[in-house]
Amino acid sequence: MTTQCAACGAATEVLLDFGKMPLANGFLAADQFGVERFYELRLACCPSCRLAQLVEPPAPALMFNDAYPFFSSTSRRMAAHFEELAADVLRACEGSTDPFIVELGSNDGILLQHYAMRGIRHLGVEPSANVARAARARGVSSLCRFFDLQAANEIVATHGQADAIVAANVMCHIADIHSAAAGVAALLRRDGLFVFEDPYWADIVAQTAYDQIYDEHAFYFSVASVERLFGRHGLELIDVAPQAVHGGSMRYVLSHQGSRRVSARVRESLEREEASGLHRREAIEGFRARVETSRRELLSLLRRLRREGERVVGYGATSKSTTIINYCGITADLIECIVDTTPAKQGKFSPGAHIPIRGHGEFAASRPDAAVLFAWNHRAEILDKERAFRDRGGKWIVFVPSVCILQ
Ligand code: TMP
Repeated sequence: MTTQCAACGAATEVLLDFGKMPLANGFLAADQFGVERFYELRLACCPSCRLAQLVEPPAPALMFNDAYPFFSSTSRRMAAHFEELAADVLRACEGSTDPFIVELGSNDGILLQHYAMRGIRHLGVEPSANVARAARARGVSSLCRFFDLQAANEIVATHGQADAIVAANVMCHIADIHSAAAGVAALLRRDGLFVFEDPYWADIVAQTAYDQIYDEHAFYFSVASVERLFGRHGLELIDVAPQAVHGGSMRYVLSHQGSRRVSARVRESLEREEASGLHRREAIEGFRARVETSRRELLSLLRRLRREGERVVGYGATSKSTTIINYCGITADLIECIVDTTPAKQGKFSPGAHIPIRGHGEFAASRPDAAVLFAWNHRAEILDKERAFRDRGGKWIVFVPSVCILQ
């Protein structure tokens, strides 16, 4: 099946098809099972501009609204990461006496709180009203709306242009990427910096981390695709820096064309991507074959454990787990519940498979024999705090980069 690239309009082939999927963050109550929404989860990679993308992302308002269940502040590791990112961005503004920093997708204020505390001018743009309220409650200025060119023009009219714009795990969520990129170009001062990070497509492919593919992630960026996409809006990629978070992310630093020196790291990364064959069709075909193997192995491991009478739970009702659970066909008779620290998810059921979501206390109390680490991107933090589980013989099941029981 061919489709049209959302960035450059070239004919683009669908290379991965996960079939019918519920909304990744569509945790629901039992009386909502009958009205659950599904969409087709299909991924295409543009041979022309290199952008990996969903073919039909659902309408943004279905995903980002007053009931958005993801609060960024649930991970200690991410809190530390955001504190460092806030400091890096502020350092880049040191030429300005009264810097103004805008964050796109500011969620519960995990990053901007560091500016709010110090009286630094800032503004968060966040379309999900519930998380934006949480940010305001900690003193973070938050505008509740989607970021696009119109929002950018209104912010400029009210506050002036920004010294820096930052977005973490957000640009890949914005389906109307051209309006957002044009908005960044309009909002950013002539000598300003746009810093964003997102899961890196090369890491997703290399690690078979196919659970990163879900409705909210409309795009899967690489250095090559970012350079081309934002270049169309007069923004130049001037630096890149790999990040260890979310199983492998890339930080992209952009400025207005010609306003800053371009780091040699940009060229080196582009060359590395080309040399690795990331953008060739065979890379995606290899990825697809590994995805199928991963599905077979995870299902057969869970079935074997059940046959042997073991009780298995899921750890972390992540958005990513919706792809794994539904694509693999995991049901509540294989995983009896998923434990999660987020109050908004507890007492509900997982999208599609309707596995019950329980509070974190249930993990120790119910003494499962094994746990599937759905929040694998927080592995070090979770294994460290759940040492008691392993000490009493509990088994961690992981599936990235491959399916295994941790030894
Ligand atoms: P994320 O992978 O998108 O960051 O989502 C993480 C989810 O996992 C979120 O619902 C919170 C949950 N979680 C826990 O339940 N316990 C933990 O220790 C961590 C780090 C996350």
